[in-house]
Amino acid sequence: QRTAVERGRALHKRAAELYFQCLRDDGRARTAREYLSRRGVSDSVAVDFALGYAPPGWEFLATRLQQEGYLPEELERFGLIVPRQGGEGHYDRFRNRIIFPIFDAQGRPVAFGGRVLDDEVPKYLNSPETPLYKKGQHLYGLNKAGPAIREKGVAVLVEGYMDVIASHQHGIRQAVASLGTAMTPEQGRLLLRYAPQVLICYDSDRAGVEAAVKAGEILTGLGARIHVLTLPEGKDPDEYLQRHGADSFWLAAEQAPPFFTFCFSRIAAGQDLSTAAGKVTVVRELASLLLMIPSAVEQEANIQWLARELRISEAAVMEEIRGHARNAR
Ligand code: UTP
Ligand code: MN
Ligand code: MN
Ligand code: MN
Ligand code: MN
Repeated sequence: QRTAVERGRALHKRAAELYFQCLRDDGRARTAREYLSRRGVSDSVAVDFALGYAPPGWEFLATRLQQEGYLPEELERFGLIVPRQGGEGHYDRFRNRIIFPIFDAQGRPVAFGGRVLDDEVPKYLNSPETPLYKKGQHLYGLNKAGPAIREKGVAVLVEGYMDVIASHQHGIRQAVASLGTAMTPEQGRLLLRYAPQVLICYDSDRAGVEAAVKAGEILTGLGARIHVLTLPEGKDPDEYLQRHGADSFWLAAEQAPPFFTFCFSRIAAGQDLSTAAGKVTVVRELASLLLMIPSAVEQEANIQWLARELRISEAAVMEEIRGHARNAR
């Protein structure tokens, strides 16, 4: 007798296989295959990430999995089918979408993302929270990237499915995605089990930069060493790699500032640093970040750097920060 969660795992494994086969063999998947090749996804990386396709019908998965003995209630509980509004029966959640299975760190599929083939909205649909999948607990690609992150000592953190896939295809095997914008502390802790250093490479649009700041703060609190790579021209890593290649990516990465410096530059950009008022604003805005750094040595190194940058004493910086800490309490 298998538990509900064990059945959920088996269910996801079968669903992933059915979507995968459909992308490979089904005549209806032709436009999906063309879409992936137009986006430069190689066949081998598509296989590596077990990409699949959900055909347009309403009951592709529902029918097959029920034939295999799964009950509608469990298919629904694991987010694969949805009850019909005010009617009887169910329909598939994912229809006419490229399927990206989300694996846990052990390589077991626990959820799915599905992308439309055009510019319909929502662009991506994801599994809801289920007994197997809590949002913000998993990192997309970690099952593939884990060994490379350990080996290189640094993870590359990106936003989306396609960024991970393009990265791996271009030999950047240490790439993982937080999926959506905000990274959670749980994802941060998971990532830091593999390496103490992270290169954040989110989209360079406004949402991406704001999310990079949030992720950087979370990782700072966890004691990570962080750099932030902002790709030019509003690009994301997928677009950048397809256009400029991995060598160019790594050249840009060498210039990526540490997270603290990145935050300093953002704040300093709006201030006149020749005035005391400008310096005070910068120190106060950076105070909470400095206070998040768990290592006293790291914290002091950043304070020294900031004092030198602003041409003020470390004691003055310390005093402002203490004031900030008191106010925060
Ligand atoms: P982006 O909007 O940056 O999409 O969202 P993308 O990954 O670059 O998509 P492509 O290149 O057009 O295919 C980044 C990530 O946010 C999540 C997805 O995980 C996506 O990869 N997302 C985005 C959603 O979950 N739903 C959406 O509607 C959009
Ligand atoms: Mn984005
Ligand atoms: Mn993209
Ligand atoms: Mn993007
Ligand atoms: Mn503050």
